[in-house]
Amino acid sequence: MVENVAPKMADLEPEDFYLLSGLEQGMRFSEWVARGKLPEFSQLTSEDVGYRIDRCETRGLLERKTIQYEGYRLTFEGYDALALRAFAERETVSEVGAPLGVGKESDVYEVRSHEPLALKFHREGYTEFREVDREREYTADREHVSWLYTARKAAEREYEALEALYPEVSVPQPIDQNRHAIAMERIDGVELERADLKGDQVVPVLELVLAEMAAAYETGYVHADMSEYNVFVGSDGVTVFDWPQAVPTDHENSRELLERDVENAVGYFQRKHPNAVGEVGTDGVADAIAAGEFETLTPHF
Ligand SMILES: Nc1ncnc2c1ncn2[C@@H]1O[C@H](COP(=O)(O)OP(=O)(O)OP(=O)(O)O)[C@@H](O)[C@H]1O
Ligand SMILES: [Mg+2]
Repeated sequence: MVENVAPKMADLEPEDFYLLSGLEQGMRFSEWVARGKLPEFSQLTSEDVGYRIDRCETRGLLERKTIQYEGYRLTFEGYDALALRAFAERETVSEVGAPLGVGKESDVYEVRSHEPLALKFHREGYTEFREVDREREYTADREHVSWLYTARKAAEREYEALEALYPEVSVPQPIDQNRHAIAMERIDGVELERADLKGDQVVPVLELVLAEMAAAYETGYVHADMSEYNVFVGSDGVTVFDWPQAVPTDHENSRELLERDVENAVGYFQRKHPNAVGEVGTDGVADAIAAGEFETLTPHF
């Protein structure tokens, strides 16, 4: 998606962004923003609004509907453009590069400023929103929770967790956040799932992963989505990423989530490397992490 937006950024004019941010404001109140409200929200004349709508629609930054009333909403590309512009103004991002990972819930891109960074655009709420929208066929807006809001909240939660965890826990260094996007240190390495571990590396890597979970717990967080897809293995150790769903350790389900995380991590190693790991009782591991005594467990396996 962003590769569609990035080349368009250069020919967007400041007034195009007035229109996009006017739409963003309007979408706090309804899914589709009435044409008549746009001059006020965007601080543009009605004539300019018309001109800007055409420019932005051609570039796929907004969508139009004409059932019941003439209304507009941002596309994700339009929202991406607003976030990218904010990062550019703050000099967090000067260039957008190749995708690093594109999924259902997020798109991650390599970006550049003074240093190479990763830019993660959250997509939570968007797929869901599309489904609901189709069923509802443009009826009441009463239960309107904008995907903009859902995606932005996810980015804020993830950024907050990274700020709390870094540098005690090996996570990407958080750099900046705007709307549904976060800029962070770019990690070199491969996902654990694709890492080609040699026999004698298996247990040490598992211990590193568990040690990061223990450090996160000590800092006050449980990851709550631990898997071989959310751990990077590099020459200098492991990095745990993807933290939007992390829960504070004083959350009522934190213990259960910690146990599930431990089972996911240990279970993966057991399935993939049964000879190196063997049968490990995961309950004892979660107990030790929760008690702040993980270190006394190692070497454990
Ligand atoms: N800081 C980073 N440096 C380098 N690559 C990254 C970074 N953060 C994320 N990635 C890449 O982007 C992918 C998706 O990131 P992440 O796991 O945070 O999002 P996600 O919401 O799980 O996405 P998905 O829906 O694809 O699982 C990762 O698997 C990784 O390859
Ligand atoms: Mg992930």
